[in-house]
Amino acid sequence: MKLIPVEMLRPGMIIARNVYNAKYTMIAKGTSLNSEYIKFIQSSGYINIYIWDGNYMDVDVTNTIDDQLFEAAVTAVANLDLEAIQELAVKIVDIIEDEKNINVDFRDSKSINDYNSHHSVCVAIYSVIIGRAMGVPTKGLYKLCEAGLCIDLGKQYISNDIINKPGRLTKEEFHIMKEHARMSFDILNENDEVSSLVKKCVLCHHENVDGTGYPLGIEGDEQHIFIRILHVVDAYNAMISQRPYKKPFTPNNAFEYLIGGKNFLFDSKVVDAMISVLMAYPMGIDVELSDGSKGVVVGGSGNALRPVVKIENIEEPVNMRTDEKYQDVNIVKSGALLEDYSDGKVERLNEISKKDIRTKQRIMIIDDTPMSMAQTKTAIGDAYEYICFENGLQCIDFLSKNSEDVPDLLIMDAVMPTIDGVTVAKKIRKNGFSKLPIVFLSSTRDREIVMACREINKVDYILKPANAIYLKERVDCILGNLRLNL
Ligand SMILES: [Fe+2]
Repeated sequence: MKLIPVEMLRPGMIIARNVYNAKYTMIAKGTSLNSEYIKFIQSSGYINIYIWDGNYMDVDVTNTIDDQLFEAAVTAVANLDLEAIQELAVKIVDIIEDEKNINVDFRDSKSINDYNSHHSVCVAIYSVIIGRAMGVPTKGLYKLCEAGLCIDLGKQYISNDIINKPGRLTKEEFHIMKEHARMSFDILNENDEVSSLVKKCVLCHHENVDGTGYPLGIEGDEQHIFIRILHVVDAYNAMISQRPYKKPFTPNNAFEYLIGGKNFLFDSKVVDAMISVLMAYPMGIDVELSDGSKGVVVGGSGNALRPVVKIENIEEPVNMRTDEKYQDVNIVKSGALLEDYSDGKVERLNEISKKDIRTKQRIMIIDDTPMSMAQTKTAIGDAYEYICFENGLQCIDFLSKNSEDVPDLLIMDAVMPTIDGVTVAKKIRKNGFSKLPIVFLSSTRDREIVMACREINKVDYILKPANAIYLKERVDCILGNLRLNL
């Protein structure tokens, strides 16, 4: 069995797993493809499909959660059927609890059109696996699974024109999207059979551990561990999915983002548990390694990014986590990387977003170290214009003379020699720029400084040296050019 991008499908290939939409099996496994089927699959927005391949007969990708159960959960969520959701949560947990070798990957089954109905089912399943790895008892897992299935129930009351809008959302649209957490909570709140823990998890699944999330802005210790698990998984599944307004993150980049956001957006223990139990690269997918060799993923290793790979011309599969010869070798490409196969489709989606940005947004950077300034600009890229200052006084002076010409975002170091970042931010706020988003980029973890930054209403605090992927995606999110946390 092999997972290939839909652009590589050819007549005569045999489908190895059912292809289905939100409710029905559209093409059963074992079907020999003809041009009509291929056209259907390609036009329905699927990214990858499993086919039989004689060279990889022993790659078994039977999902721990079978199609029937997955589809039943999708239907229960779509119908807002809380009784069925509770029953299915128990079934899903019991299956995962009984299974030693868990294999869950639904990337081949998700078409771009079915994202909303599949997303919460994927979140529920991944959350249970992580919860189990973190020692959550079975009864707790039932609640965690139920909460995962319910996180986005409220989205059914939001227009698809907003949910699937290919470009930037307006402020009002952002507000409506963020309301979905409360709307999901309200649906559950009417039902006495749903526990208060499940209701709280659903309400808070977009809370960041540093208190910058929504809708309540609660912090790490105030968040039940289930909330922290759901938040990480929700972000992960959103990142690896293709949406009308964004291409999927590569598995590597999705994990880089989670790692970069540890202790600020995401709970670090949850991220670590996730890396140890999930597979970033699905079984049966082609990979290219940094030493130039090519192979196919044939198993997990306990590290999502370093799977077991059957490499061409090497008999025994290589465990990239434990094999000493491969410690300096990484996966540089995989079949899921759409850049290779997208046929321009994703680029077209991104073009729509770009057109929507009429003029380049401007970012002001204050950093006393030229090297660090250059690294920040390089990481964020040339989609933005920059105004750069070496100290905060220049920034205060600029804003006082250009009050009509305020940048869209300010990024600055928290600790600087002439005037520190917190003082600069306080002066800026005092001078009337209360809405200018401020991101602190600093190498200090000093709690007092972090807290002081928080009090002046910063939008983020990123540790230096910044993870380039995390920094870029965070800036894109803050400026409304990327939707990840909705
Ligand atoms: Fe959500």
